[in-house]
Amino acid sequence: MDGFLNLPDIERAAHEALPPMVGDYYRGGAMDEATLRANRDAFARAALRPRVLVDVSRRDLSTTVLGRRTAMPILLAPTAFHRLAHPDGELATARAARAAGVVQILSTLSTTPVEDVCRANPGGTWFQLYVYRDREATRALVGRAADAGCAALVVTVDAPLLGRRERDIRGGFHLPSGIVAANVTGAPRDMPRVAGDSALAAWFQSQIDPSLSWKDLSALRAMTSLPILLKGVLRGDDARRAADAGVDGIIVSNHGGRQMDGAVASLDALPEVVAAAGTATVLFDGGVRRGADVLRALALGARGVLVGRPQLHGLAVGGEAGVARVLEILRFELDHAMALCGCPDIASITRDLVR
Ligand code: GLV
Repeated sequence: MDGFLNLPDIERAAHEALPPMVGDYYRGGAMDEATLRANRDAFARAALRPRVLVDVSRRDLSTTVLGRRTAMPILLAPTAFHRLAHPDGELATARAARAAGVVQILSTLSTTPVEDVCRANPGGTWFQLYVYRDREATRALVGRAADAGCAALVVTVDAPLLGRRERDIRGGFHLPSGIVAANVTGAPRDMPRVAGDSALAAWFQSQIDPSLSWKDLSALRAMTSLPILLKGVLRGDDARRAADAGVDGIIVSNHGGRQMDGAVASLDALPEVVAAAGTATVLFDGGVRRGADVLRALALGARGVLVGRPQLHGLAVGGEAGVARVLEILRFELDHAMALCGCPDIASITRDLVR
């Protein structure tokens, strides 16, 4: 894996290895993919203002997120169907997360049961929830995730229906036989080919509840004592409402450009959400590919960042070792950026570092 110098190297190799249907599912955004591009472009616009003459001979990348120590301010974002990238699927991701001392947020659409993933990364797994039309099935899934040992619940709120991903419609995205959504109960777990549509979009339409609204938050709160984070918030007013409703965390995200095309870049939305979030923990995702991107998001107020697609690229090139290499590169680059910006620790990454 040492031959891969940076995340773009791993991404290129992954796309050479992956079947086109899977590569398109991972790389794709909604419609014109404008938001997908905007996420990356926003980092280029956020120029850094390095501090000089700071003793950075020792650097500490560790921090806490929701009270838990993490080796660095990076989490693995919920991403679906890891077994499409590698036969070891989410277990490989969990092992790499554990070795690196970071949290993996397991997708509702995991191809490995949540119990197995939690055993591979004890204390380091959170669960991402799509709320089903069937609320009893939702409750059962939340209970199962908590019983398995998940330490937090991440409720995705930007997907009343699935974004229109034209690559997946054209390519007939589906799950090959033998790969299923392993945590789904009370609904179909396989997603065979659907004529003229993405099988995931069709499944989503039939199973996921587009009526989910603010009034459901108290029911979710009553389902579990786990900390709850809302993922997919892009506006200050929504952040304030979430904080007022007592959520523990807010994840600024446009779902990797896969939901509303034309939505604001995540990095551009971050300051507004941070300003409105009160004491709720703010996390960030959207286009992180370099350690300096992590530093920028932290400077703009995020407590930590999630990386999505890069872990799938890592899986595709080398399973657990590939994800480990992705995390190692990000760690190296964040450490390097901290040294060159005059930041010996995470607390010294402050707002003034970004123009
Ligand atoms: C699943 O959550 C996806 O965005 O494809």
